[in-house]
Amino acid sequence: AHAEPKELLELALAAALEAGRLAADGQAGIRVLDTKSSPTDVVTAMDRAAEEQIRRRLLGARPGDAWLGEEGGEEAGTSGVRWIVDPIDGTVNYLYGRREWAVSIAAEVDGEIVAGVVAAPALGETFTATRGGGASVNGEPLRAPGAVALDMALVGTGFGYEARRRAHQAAVLATVLPRVRDIRRVGAAALDLCDLARGRINGYYERGTNAWDWGAAALVAAEAGVRVGGLRGAGPGSDLVIAAVPGLFEELHDLLEPLGADTDG
Ligand code: IPD
Repeated sequence: AHAEPKELLELALAAALEAGRLAADGQAGIRVLDTKSSPTDVVTAMDRAAEEQIRRRLLGARPGDAWLGEEGGEEAGTSGVRWIVDPIDGTVNYLYGRREWAVSIAAEVDGEIVAGVVAAPALGETFTATRGGGASVNGEPLRAPGAVALDMALVGTGFGYEARRRAHQAAVLATVLPRVRDIRRVGAAALDLCDLARGRINGYYERGTNAWDWGAAALVAAEAGVRVGGLRGAGPGSDLVIAAVPGLFEELHDLLEPLGADTDG
């Protein structure tokens, strides 16, 4: 059955904190590997274990729900609710013992994300939002600061994993970089959008991310007053996600559009 966004959020929050503890406990061990397995295998194993734990908790409580997970793929449901889950966003940071990684869980009802949690245990930060109910970090309300001009904007972005896509992303970046205050590449799309919600960057764009990377965080950002979309009025998608407060959003959009930032060149 359908549930209220607040109930879905509570469930997602408990699951994200639990998976965050599992992954945080596992991160230390990754630096003291034996020679039998590669570091990437260990991260993949943790990704799977964390997603499985989240799935048991969420689908255990709500067996009719659908699933979209980075590791577990897609599964249909009967309730109209779908969970969109990235057990570890920022896996390269996780692998290197860095702190910028997060568990991301979004709840979608009839195709619209209504609740989202981004839990970053190594940073001690948990972001939550419900549609129409506002966004918070560690329980404190979040409101993005007002627009700055593009040339004063600190802009986050990220890069895909394939060489061809990266070559075009580098070409786009070569035009963007001289036009902005500076660029940040934090390495976790969910945290880029949450950073934007609290004014730690002013804008963000990236091609090639998936709904599990940005679903929950896009709601956090939107509820904090950030506009999240794509090119030419499209919603955020794997072609391109653009995010900034109104005013700067349009400036960033108009810079990116003629560059073909939604293509691989
Ligand atoms: C990645 C991160 C990264 C972004 C990549 C994503 P993952 O997610 O969000 O910042 O640049 O496009 O794939 O693989 O760590 O879950």
